[in-house]
Amino acid sequence: MQPPAAGTLRVLHLSDTHLTGDGALHQGSVDTTAALESVLARVDGVPGIGLVVISGDVSEDGSPESYAAVLERVGGWAERHGAALVAVPGNHDLREGFRQVLSNGHVLGEGGRPVMHTMEYHPPTVPVWGQSLVAGRRIVTVDTSVPGAGYGEVSEASLERLRTALAGDHAPHGTIVVLHHPPLPAPTALHEALRLQNPEALADVVRGSDVRVVLGGHYHHHFAGSLAGVPVLVAPGVANDTDVTGAYDEESAYVDSGALVVDVAEDGSVWSTPLRVPRPDADPLAFHLDAETVASVIAAAGKH
Ligand SMILES: [Fe+2]
Repeated sequence: MQPPAAGTLRVLHLSDTHLTGDGALHQGSVDTTAALESVLARVDGVPGIGLVVISGDVSEDGSPESYAAVLERVGGWAERHGAALVAVPGNHDLREGFRQVLSNGHVLGEGGRPVMHTMEYHPPTVPVWGQSLVAGRRIVTVDTSVPGAGYGEVSEASLERLRTALAGDHAPHGTIVVLHHPPLPAPTALHEALRLQNPEALADVVRGSDVRVVLGGHYHHHFAGSLAGVPVLVAPGVANDTDVTGAYDEESAYVDSGALVVDVAEDGSVWSTPLRVPRPDADPLAFHLDAETVASVIAAAGKH
């Protein structure tokens, strides 16, 4: 892949890793630890990633062990690549286990350096909240999970904190909001029942602000939409891929893993590249041109 343009923040957007503390298979069919490792290996050669984001359902069981497994793998990857790391809880996460290992989710700062946190106790009823500055962008994580529920909601307290954050110190290149339940329609009846309940309230806070992009997950499939004129990008799941063409009132998913590489330019322009992990048994290579052949095609057919 081409390197990011100068001044652009390149984000590796992962979602729905659904790791288990005991290595149990997700839905009885997918080794999510192996799926995560294959995604990370796939993106190892993508240049210039400055921020890694996990937009919720980090864990399947909420156990500290599952978060430690994520931290080891994604944190290790981010450190090696000199990238910041930010995570937010989803409906499968448990705030207690999440906080125990990932604190407020802002784990690594710019350059992959650990973020220092004061140990502060929050009961699980209090949404996880975090913000940090990475490459001149304000990164805000908004916890849309509702304890005991699958649907999402931005609480009044979180809306107020977001409003305050956006009205606060000027971020030179705007804000990136990370949340689990995207403020977009859902592809199936099941996901519709589990969708974000108050997207209008979020839209009211985002409208006219310096938010450049909203990154979400939850639907286990890539979608692009907008909220109050701001792009909303839903990352494909690491755990599986929702069958969006199936019957609306049924639910199925394929074994498949993906991610987004999101470039956020200095002027706020956003460019997203969806990735999936090919499986050698099911995804044969269509073609490959070596660099010399590519150069000759460019010489013959490119603009001179
Ligand atoms: Fe999920």
